[in-house]
Amino acid sequence: MHLWRRQVGPYIGTALVLALLTGFSLFASEAVRIGNGSAFQYKMLLLCVALLLHFTIHRKATSRESEGMTGLHKLAGGLSIGCWLGVAFAGRAIGFGFL
Ligand code: HEM
Repeated sequence: MHLWRRQVGPYIGTALVLALLTGFSLFASEAVRIGNGSAFQYKMLLLCVALLLHFTIHRKATSRESEGMTGLHKLAGGLSIGCWLGVAFAGRAIGFGFL
């Protein structure tokens, strides 16, 4: 298993559960208004893609030690950063009322 995953892996699970719980509580406070908004729908789509990537190609890319950055590392990293930034910006868009 990649050193990175051994060191950071245990924190990722806890952080994900915390983000999902706090996110849901934000949503529950105004579920109808937020749920009908396009920003929230894009956020949930990006969140599903980000989680799918995390448990598939990201996990494969970090499953073994390897010299240097392979194409899979770059693909997993680039897609992952793009999706998680999208989740955050969509969350901010909800806060700004860009529904
Ligand atoms: C797990 C990964 C998640 C990340 C990284 C994330 C990130 C963020 C960020 C950065 C914001 C902007 C905070 C701000 O305005 O300062 C936000 C807002 C928000 N998030 Fe999430 N979120 C996540 C999951 C969720 C989930 C699962 C839900 C709902 C089911 C959710 C619902 C919301 C809502 C409703 C807001 C807007 C709050 C407001 O009115 O300002 N989030 N999120």
